[in-house]
Amino acid sequence: MSRERRAPLGERLLAPFRVLAGGEELESAGATLLERACRALGAKEGLILLARPEGSGPEGSGRSEPQVGYLPGPCWGAPGPGGRLGAREGDGGLAAEAVASARPVAAGAGGREAWCGMVVEGRTVGVLALRRAAGARFTGEELVAVELLATGAAVAVDRLRFLRLWSRKLEQADAAHSQLLRYADDLRTTFAAERRRAEQLREALDAAELAYIATVRALATAVEAKDAYTGGHLARVTAYGTEACRSIGGDLAATPGLEYAFLLHDLGKIGVPDAVLNKAGPLTDEEWALMREHPAIGLRILEGVPQMDVVRAVVYSHHERWDGAGYPEGLKGEQTPLAARVFAAVDAFDAITTDRPYRAAASLDEALHRLREAAGSQFAPDAVEAIHLVDRERLAAIQATVTTRRVLEEPSPPRAGAGQEAPDLVLEQPRGASVGLFQHASRR
Ligand SMILES: [Fe+2]
Repeated sequence: MSRERRAPLGERLLAPFRVLAGGEELESAGATLLERACRALGAKEGLILLARPEGSGPEGSGRSEPQVGYLPGPCWGAPGPGGRLGAREGDGGLAAEAVASARPVAAGAGGREAWCGMVVEGRTVGVLALRRAAGARFTGEELVAVELLATGAAVAVDRLRFLRLWSRKLEQADAAHSQLLRYADDLRTTFAAERRRAEQLREALDAAELAYIATVRALATAVEAKDAYTGGHLARVTAYGTEACRSIGGDLAATPGLEYAFLLHDLGKIGVPDAVLNKAGPLTDEEWALMREHPAIGLRILEGVPQMDVVRAVVYSHHERWDGAGYPEGLKGEQTPLAARVFAAVDAFDAITTDRPYRAAASLDEALHRLREAAGSQFAPDAVEAIHLVDRERLAAIQATVTTRRVLEEPSPPRAGAGQEAPDLVLEQPRGASVGLFQHASRR
């Protein structure tokens, strides 16, 4: 009998338990464990069968139920006469019997084999089997030792399973974290690209806006160049009109392009012959007919141009009258768009307050008085009231800004006290009373 067999059983079990406590994985330490277990219990061969992982097959679906069909695990020792433990016919049944009995099972000829399920927290994780030489059966005390070793091995296997599970989860968490970091990088890149694109779009819009403004000014300058009478009148009526619309407030004052509507009101004069437009003497009826075509000509020029509704309204309707006696449509009252009604009033206001070869400019008070007298007949009452609501100093400042320079070179109509350039004087060609109380600043 070996020296180890003579030592107390508990002392002999220290060696295999130290292997279990070593923390090594069963794949690498399993053979050593079995060697120490076999030496401790006088066995010739040892084997561990491993339960299939959960979900790997029908045998692995039950938790504490007997499992038939195990994966071969580590082994140690020389195979016996009938073949290696676990590979013999009926070994699967022995394993199942050991698990089902929940106790070590003595098997083989004369009880030379001990089979014991490896159970932890009610779950079978494998089976431990030891085989002695012929005639050396396992005693009850030794079967308890086998159960101790099987339980220790089960705890070790389960701990490793747990560590592997959490290792995989940590790897998955790391992968998810890395994916999030990549996603955040992508977002930052996309955001930066979108911001650059937004800046480029903003620049393009600014350029388009500048081109739009330049185009409007070019058109207004073309009208001004063609009609010698309009001159600074355009700038003044634009300033008066803008102020009057502010007095009214609401949507009108906030209408984009409102200023351009006043600047371009006589755009259609581009299509009126110069001989008619700048004729020194009175116009014939045919010539007046041509002159009165300019609202329609202006409307045709603007046809299809987007965002020009308010401009079209003023261009086409600025010669309408409140009483319906205007042209080209003879619109009455509020049938005429509000912006056009305001323009008609401020146009007359500028004519009255500007010197003419045949009369001096009227005072602001006089002009306002005369507008009010014509409110409800020639002019819209709301438009006349809007001019009355404009600060008197502001009206005086607009009226006083007289200069020989073309105001259309400036980006905005003159503001009171801003040291602005002054517009040209407006000349007026008097016409018969049938035209109305006040002449349009240039010829009708
Ligand atoms: Fe006109």
